Amino acid sequence: MGNRTLAIIKPDAIRARRQGKIIDRILQAGFEIQAARIIRMTKSQAEGFYEVHRGRPFYEELTTFMSSGSCLPMVLEKEDAVEEFRKLIGATDPAQAAPGTIRKDFAASVGENAVHGSDSDENAEKEVAFFFTTGDILSNL
Ligand code: CMP
Repeated sequence: MGNRTLAIIKPDAIRARRQGKIIDRILQAGFEIQAARIIRMTKSQAEGFYEVHRGRPFYEELTTFMSSGSCLPMVLEKEDAVEEFRKLIGATDPAQAAPGTIRKDFAASVGENAVHGSDSDENAEKEVAFFFTTGDILSNL
């Protein structure tokens, strides 16, 4: 199991000024933030990031939403980071998310669900490379 994952605080959470509370949960859970940026994706960048979902019924809505405001991508490290971060954020649909998870507490719907986390080590590596270069990541220096 790898020790790195890619997290994104999504536009709904940034608009609601919840990024500080979400980052606090991440730190309290023992993750190290090794890189972070605040960005605004174009529609075509959002389409590129979610390329694996192209063709799904929610792809258009998802990429429009992800390019509707700022996002905060982060490189997080912890032992077994992908799995541990997915536990911390809870199910994709906040209605199904366990109590105490980030999505349960901060997300409104399956489409606007406050945070993204990589779903495998392989995708974590690709997603980190989408937003960051090697020299941006503290643990690489
Ligand atoms: P995320 O972890 O960013 O990865 C893909 C995203 O698609 C997911 O979170 C959801 O926000 C979004 N999405 C929107 N509608 C659906 C749906 N019906 N099923 C799964 N994901 C959806």
